[in-house]
Amino acid sequence: MATTQRRMLVTSALPYANGSIHLGHLVEYLQTDIWVRFQKLRGHDCIYVCADDAHGTPIMLKAMQDEVTPQQLIDAMDEEHRRDFGDFHVGFDNYHTTHSDENRHYAELIYTRLRDAGHIAVRTIRQAYDKQAGMFLPDRFIRGTCPHCGLQDQYGDSCDNGHTYSPLDLKDPVSVISGQPPVERESEHYFFKLGDFEDWLRDWIGSGEHVQPEIANKLNEWFKAGLQDWDISRDAPYWGFEIPGVEGKYFYVWLDAPIGYIASFRQYCDRQGIDFDAYWSPGSETELYHFIGKDIAYFHTLFWPAMLHGAGFRTPTAVYVHGFLTVNGTKMSKSRGTFINARSYLQHLRPEYLRYYYAAKLGPGIDDIDLNLDDFMARVNADLVGKLVNIASRCAGFIGKNFAGELAPAMDDTAVYQPFIDAGASIAQAYETRDFARALRETMALADQANQYINEQQPWVLVKQPGQEARVQQVCSLGINMFRALITYLKPVIPATAERAEAFLREPSPLRWDSPAAPLLGQRIERFKPLLTRIEKHQIENMVEASQESLQGQPAGDSALSRDPISAQITFDDFAKLDLRVARVTHAEHVDGADKLLRCTLDLGGETRNVFAGIKAAYDPGKLIGRQVVVVANLAPRKMRFGVSEGMLLAAGPGGTDIFLLDVDSGATPGMRVK
Ligand code: 2FM
Repeated sequence: MATTQRRMLVTSALPYANGSIHLGHLVEYLQTDIWVRFQKLRGHDCIYVCADDAHGTPIMLKAMQDEVTPQQLIDAMDEEHRRDFGDFHVGFDNYHTTHSDENRHYAELIYTRLRDAGHIAVRTIRQAYDKQAGMFLPDRFIRGTCPHCGLQDQYGDSCDNGHTYSPLDLKDPVSVISGQPPVERESEHYFFKLGDFEDWLRDWIGSGEHVQPEIANKLNEWFKAGLQDWDISRDAPYWGFEIPGVEGKYFYVWLDAPIGYIASFRQYCDRQGIDFDAYWSPGSETELYHFIGKDIAYFHTLFWPAMLHGAGFRTPTAVYVHGFLTVNGTKMSKSRGTFINARSYLQHLRPEYLRYYYAAKLGPGIDDIDLNLDDFMARVNADLVGKLVNIASRCAGFIGKNFAGELAPAMDDTAVYQPFIDAGASIAQAYETRDFARALRETMALADQANQYINEQQPWVLVKQPGQEARVQQVCSLGINMFRALITYLKPVIPATAERAEAFLREPSPLRWDSPAAPLLGQRIERFKPLLTRIEKHQIENMVEASQESLQGQPAGDSALSRDPISAQITFDDFAKLDLRVARVTHAEHVDGADKLLRCTLDLGGETRNVFAGIKAAYDPGKLIGRQVVVVANLAPRKMRFGVSEGMLLAAGPGGTDIFLLDVDSGATPGMRVK
């Protein structure tokens, strides 16, 4: 047991509020949660906070696309994220949003302190502007041809061959929003002068305490390349916080996102009566840890500590970076069904299987981890069911049947049990240094010892020998105590199973890290019920199949907005799959609460369909009735917020009032195939 109680604040990166949590995200939340649970089990005062990252252009555009307000979108995502995290047993002490009063307060405070200390510069820059959409375009919302290698259909900042460039240098650029070529336009922007902090940052990183060696190496490369001023402003329209004293300019989402850590903690302090300053004042003795993915190391190891230091806040004790997830050895893939959302997983498998598997793979470094689905099943079944639960199930029956559930009053084989107590120190050290793979290896080596002991003692043979009753009780009680030690060491990883085990053992209070030192003796335990069941192959197959199915009818990218407006080529066979039919509009009406949609009732020659079409700005519903249109008749029905849409009307045009339904000659009849 640790002798001194430490006080810690821990965060995971804030997930964007425009997408669902998937198995890739969960690497980080499970890693952090296991670490936090371990610290709490050791008796430390450890607070874990997070929030939704609710600002920025992608969220604004996704809300427009879904025909909801940004607030409605982020509220819905907030609810979904909380549910997914909760069901994976991610135990945040507080979960908030960056679109909050607390976050506005701290974003403004940090900005004004930096500005007043001279760390903000103002410059005019030229940027790509979409005249039709009336907005400046983030780099990822421009596509075109790489100016270095000529690769077509690339993002505005980098190409798939690894070249980086300014969006203004991209050839044949088009806006992903309107499909129109952007123009260049000037605007005044606000910059954080990162270079002011170079010496301080070099010392902070050079101390060797705050970042992993791989990240320190990366940082040295960044220092060599030179620290650039960081553009922290965006022009309206933007979904975020307006910069104090500067009308029409907003904080860039990445300025207020990490401040969300502070804001979430502030909300927690206000609820719990905790002294906020004891955590965030310079020189605070509280430890502050951020768990993040390697893609956002620049923000967390340069901008963030510099901003905190410059604004008079304490800086992180450490930033812990992890690698990415691959599934079956490659990037997660929608078509292979290996792009698996948290919810799809939970519909087929228990959360603790994944918690255990990720833990078994996670080390202290930044290497990627692979979820190999066959190995996942084999490992979980062998370790958790075959080794761990088996110990309890082998011993509990004898205790229940032959000793009325009563454990032996004392332990004879203390030498056999002692290694289970001693191992606690090394396993704790492994958890502390985020070497969960080693923590589990050492725990499972103890499980092997426990099973071997039971095999050698053969209680099932002893029980048939007269005069051996006390020995059977001894052996099985020791087995139960070995199981209890293992469950204690695995409690950060499989907390729900540990809770069921505590009930089975009739623990007077929840297990703590040092519980194995005081074994359970002379007390009753409950009848054994299986604590975990095996993974069956069909559960994994069904999950993969469902992940493929749930993506049908959805765009290949993260959202329709990330697609190229000029379609990629399809084969003739792809084209032949489309069943295009003539349809007559028999009814059309506005949809309550929808800005763009009309609900159309279509006659397809005896068959009636309900189709939602985004043509409200272009067509008066009354004038549509009787008109003949072309409809994709074999599109899978899509559930929308306002009902199910059973097809799609074909039209041309960029959108808004410029949408033109395809006209069909009056000689055609409804239901006729369009060739
Ligand atoms: O990369 C991301 O998903 C960001 N939403 C992470 C933000 S972490 C912190 F800075 F808020």
